[in-house]
Amino acid sequence: MFIGTKDLTYIYMPGTPFAAEALSGVSFSLERGDFAVLIGPSGSGKSTLIQHLNGLLSPTQGKVFFNDQDIGADKKELLFLRRKIGLVFQMPEEQFFSETVFDEVAFAPRNLDLAGEEIAARVNSALALVGLDPDAFKARHPFRLSSGQKRLVAIAAVLSLHPEVLVLDEPTAGLDISARSHLFALLRRLNADEGLTVLVSTHHLDEAAALANRAVVLNRGRLVMCGPAGDVFQNRVKLKDIGLALPPVTGIMDSLCEEGMPVRTDIFDLQSARLEILLLKGRL
Ligand SMILES: Nc1ncnc2c1ncn2[C@@H]1O[C@H](COP(=O)(O)OP(=O)(O)OP(=O)(O)O)[C@@H](O)[C@H]1O
Ligand SMILES: [Mg+2]
Repeated sequence: MFIGTKDLTYIYMPGTPFAAEALSGVSFSLERGDFAVLIGPSGSGKSTLIQHLNGLLSPTQGKVFFNDQDIGADKKELLFLRRKIGLVFQMPEEQFFSETVFDEVAFAPRNLDLAGEEIAARVNSALALVGLDPDAFKARHPFRLSSGQKRLVAIAAVLSLHPEVLVLDEPTAGLDISARSHLFALLRRLNADEGLTVLVSTHHLDEAAALANRAVVLNRGRLVMCGPAGDVFQNRVKLKDIGLALPPVTGIMDSLCEEGMPVRTDIFDLQSARLEILLLKGRL
């Protein structure tokens, strides 16, 4: 397995009256090159699972694997691991602490003992990768950017370590629809063109279904499904059971089908629905 968990259980504040089991026996795996979405209702354990993937949290029981290695086994490996598995937190801008975008993105590579030019080169290429012109943004104050630009800086800060896996916890939370599509398009590019394996948690099933090749579904700390995204999103009953509403456009395609129109029902986003309806015109 490239990255994943085996029988992972995590209890917050064990042995106290506040003990809470946030993950219970979760096993899932991703292959190199996957674009995976992690979905589940609020409180289902997505952030807790994500924080295990680069060793920020250690399992109460069970194991976390990267490249077939148990990553909890050797604490010295943790630093190396954090370079390979880049984690973008929920609302990452809350953790900005630098005066300039350059310093924010340079922070992690500076800790790698790299030469000054190499650090500058990494900052420039990370900013360019996320679509921020380095010359225009390097000297800006990170707190004085738009919400969408702040997210891009946070992603650039992680990319400057040249990770193999990018894990993002609800990167589009609080963004408007155009910033959201821009961000998902960036993730698609990082996956397809830069070869990064991507795992992203989201509440936006429409974008998730359109982009991902794998889906991992959690509910109340347990794994409900993990598999090809098409299969997972087809399992409407299970998704509805745990309170995950399908995108409205999927409901429209379902009702067209019920009315006898020969349309596909595995449609989750507007663009695919538009194409399918155009094709229908030819079929009728
Ligand atoms: N620091 C903490 N201390 C105690 N319990 C916690 C802590 N963080 C999370 N939990 C509990 O663990 C469970 C899983 O929380 P988690 O934040 O992983 O869910 P989530 O799926 O990321 O939710 P959301 O979609 O709202 O971000 C919840 O019941 C939550 O109350
Ligand atoms: Mg969360």
